[in-house]
Amino acid sequence: MEQEKVIEITNLTKMYGNHVGVKDLSLTVDKGEIMGFLGPNGAGKTTTIRSCLALLTKTAGEITIFGLDSHRDSVTIRKRTGYLPGDFGLIPSVKVRSYLKYLLSLHGSSSTKKMGSLAERLQLDLDRKTNELSKGNKLKVGIVQSLMTDEDLIIMDEPSGLDPLMQQEFYRILRQEQKQGKTIFMSSHNLAEVESICNRVAIIRKGQLIVVENIEVLQKKTGKVLEVEFNDPFKIDEFTFKGVSNIRQDNGRLILTIHENLDNVIKALSNHQILNMNLKTYSLEQLFLKYYAEGEVGEGGDA
Ligand SMILES: Nc1ncnc2c1ncn2[C@@H]1O[C@H](COP(=O)(O)OP(=O)(O)OP(=O)(O)O)[C@@H](O)[C@H]1O
Ligand SMILES: [Mg+2]
Repeated sequence: MEQEKVIEITNLTKMYGNHVGVKDLSLTVDKGEIMGFLGPNGAGKTTTIRSCLALLTKTAGEITIFGLDSHRDSVTIRKRTGYLPGDFGLIPSVKVRSYLKYLLSLHGSSSTKKMGSLAERLQLDLDRKTNELSKGNKLKVGIVQSLMTDEDLIIMDEPSGLDPLMQQEFYRILRQEQKQGKTIFMSSHNLAEVESICNRVAIIRKGQLIVVENIEVLQKKTGKVLEVEFNDPFKIDEFTFKGVSNIRQDNGRLILTIHENLDNVIKALSNHQILNMNLKTYSLEQLFLKYYAEGEVGEGGDA
């Protein structure tokens, strides 16, 4: 089935004078997905995001959002997009509530219901003044303003800096938004974050896109590592299945990497007496770092 494309970037180039911001970048974000946008500092994430919202004039290429031209129809697009800028700033000395209400009014909305519930979930005190807020609480204001108007598309440029509990709540909020059919495009440096909430990831390096991949596909590439300690003898052959690699014995323990068919391995294990077992989901971090460093296209290899 043809996916409905919410963001469609075709051959985007943005030069800052002689300096490349983004070069010949093509990327689509489908309706209802959470797309993570990763890459080293200065790779071009913010440049891409700002180009989408016509906050920058692009040098070449096309961007359509909701099928509309990013530049010509930027006002309509902005009305349908919740945006958290990377350099989100606040006007000083106003109550957070007044500030958010002001933003709502700019948007032509007076319903504060979602604003209130988001603030409550993120434990943001709306009665504090903007200049009294800690860094994390400022970020919460940014997050609330990007979601409170209930737009179809949410673009976030590095929504990071929440404490771990708030971070989890933030992920729950994003998943709920997604369930309601929202599309989310977010840049991040937090690999675990991307792994836990994104459906796909795009990696950019030196202005060029080097990989766009489904997270589950990447996870299959890296696999899960199983270590088992037995109380009886075993043979490596017993665990040789399709989707299982890197089987070895180490200090009497069995170690293997499972890409698929975990079920088969568990069944084979049930023929034995197990003393101890440890199943680690291999972090994608190794794989991401490899992409960051080498910028390879295609095979990620075993991490
Ligand atoms: N206003 C500007 N003038 C000149 N060069 C710029 C400007 N803004 C960005 N650049 C350059 O464009 C490149 C891409 O920058 P960009 O801010 O898009 O990176 P980024 O991926 O968002 O990085 P970070 O992870 O640090 O936020 C960098 O080399 C940067 O120095
Ligand atoms: Mg940036």
